Amino acid sequence: MPETRTHPIHVRPAVLADEAALGELDRATWSTLHAVTPRPQPPYNPFFDERHRPEDFLVAEAGEDGGESRPAGYLRLVPPTPLACNTHVRQIQGLAVADRARGRGVARTLLRAAFEAARGDGANRMTLRVLGHNAPARALYESEGFVVEGVLPGEFFLHGRYVDDVMMGRSLAP
Ligand SMILES: CC(C)(COP(=O)(O)OP(=O)(O)OC[C@H]1O[C@@H](n2cnc3c(N)ncnc32)[C@H](O)[C@@H]1OP(=O)(O)O)[C@@H](O)C(=O)NCCC(=O)NCCS
Repeated sequence: MPETRTHPIHVRPAVLADEAALGELDRATWSTLHAVTPRPQPPYNPFFDERHRPEDFLVAEAGEDGGESRPAGYLRLVPPTPLACNTHVRQIQGLAVADRARGRGVARTLLRAAFEAARGDGANRMTLRVLGHNAPARALYESEGFVVEGVLPGEFFLHGRYVDDVMMGRSLAP
């Protein structure tokens, strides 16, 4: 099992009881590097809803120095469409790691757990979209076998700049 400097990283499916912790993590990590929606303002939308069900999420826990284990990151993995002809594909539609846990392999562990879960569901391909200026995420995805499959130039206007929407994908074949 991959480890933080001193603590193991454990990945599990999300449960409804993660609502508060994941909502907080999501708000705390908001940035124009990856978000295309405005900074969340109170009253906050629920983290889980009909389209964002706990079973769509993997949660990574990394033990803390006090011995406590709490969500350090999450990944949302869903079929890109409800179409029968598209069921062999899974798409990452959300990945975030808490600032305090970055740089220790949490995202890589989540990604590898997602590959395993998708293969277990019979999928043979994984896709995602990442903003062109999100260098950390692009380096992560490339190091895990994703390649750029398409670019929508200047698709988003964020913080006074046009930003590309980059499509990436990889096979899940062994
Ligand atoms: C991108 C993100 C998920 C990485 O999480 P993380 O747990 O710190 O990443 P890991 O420790 O697993 O790093 C794995 C690899 O990612 C790349 N990476 C991670 N952070 C990086 C950084 N700041 N700069 C460059 N590359 C980086 C590296 O290739 C790294 O491998 P290495 O440690 O061998 O160099 C995290 O920075 C984050 O939550 N960012 C905001 C949300 C976001 O951008 N999500 C992606 C949306 S598409």
